[in-house]
Amino acid sequence: MFAIALDGPAGAGKSTIARKVAEHYNILYLDTGAMYRAMGWKAVNSDVSLRDDKAVEEMLCKTKLDVRFLHGSQHVYIDDQDVSDLIRTPEMSKAASDISALKCVRLHLVTLQRQLAKTQPLVIDGRDIGTYVLPNAPWKFFLTASTEERAQRRLLQLRASGDNKTSLEEVIEDINYRDKQDSSREIAPLRQADDAIVVDTTHLTISQVIDTITKKIGILPHEISEKYNKQDSSGAQNR
Ligand code: DC
Repeated sequence: MFAIALDGPAGAGKSTIARKVAEHYNILYLDTGAMYRAMGWKAVNSDVSLRDDKAVEEMLCKTKLDVRFLHGSQHVYIDDQDVSDLIRTPEMSKAASDISALKCVRLHLVTLQRQLAKTQPLVIDGRDIGTYVLPNAPWKFFLTASTEERAQRRLLQLRASGDNKTSLEEVIEDINYRDKQDSSREIAPLRQADDAIVVDTTHLTISQVIDTITKKIGILPHEISEKYNKQDSSGAQNR
């Protein structure tokens, strides 16, 4: 298996770094948060209570979740609708965090994530990749940053996506809520794996973080295609 696992709290820079590290090695980037967000989106739009394990489980059985890579970029589909852009709101961040605490959701999505990691080299980010999804991943990193820095970064992302409403205070509140919930849930909480390398990104630029990670990995991009069977596109399905 060639998997680079990036875990850490919301806003630590995981998705930006994961995307760039994947580009560096010319491999796929699997954003597992998007899968939880998509399920959260489905629940919110079906009026299913995120706290009702049984109702969510019933919903899951009737939901088709696909992850597809189009020109190397991940798209998430719920019942054949591409929801990739609809899941990037503060409401969906919270819904994802709520729904991700349910055992039935985690078991379902973790199975899909493991299938994808088995079939191709990838960079995969989340909360539990190094500890639970892929405990044997050869490279594990845990990205952190101060709450203030994480909130500022999230706010910039929201502004860039056209959200001019959400305030800094609301972003900090969301981050605190999710930090607490993601690290205190019973199943596969946010936790640093014992063998993960911690990278505090608070005062680092994106290229400094990428440098740190690729130096630790110590493999050249062409060595990956020589060693591993690389695919340009793939899909995983849930039904
Ligand atoms: O990385 P993100 O902000 O898109 O994640 C949204 C939520 O999904 C996060 O608050 C917790 C949950 N999540 C999870 O529990 N496990 C993962 N591997 C990824 C995300």
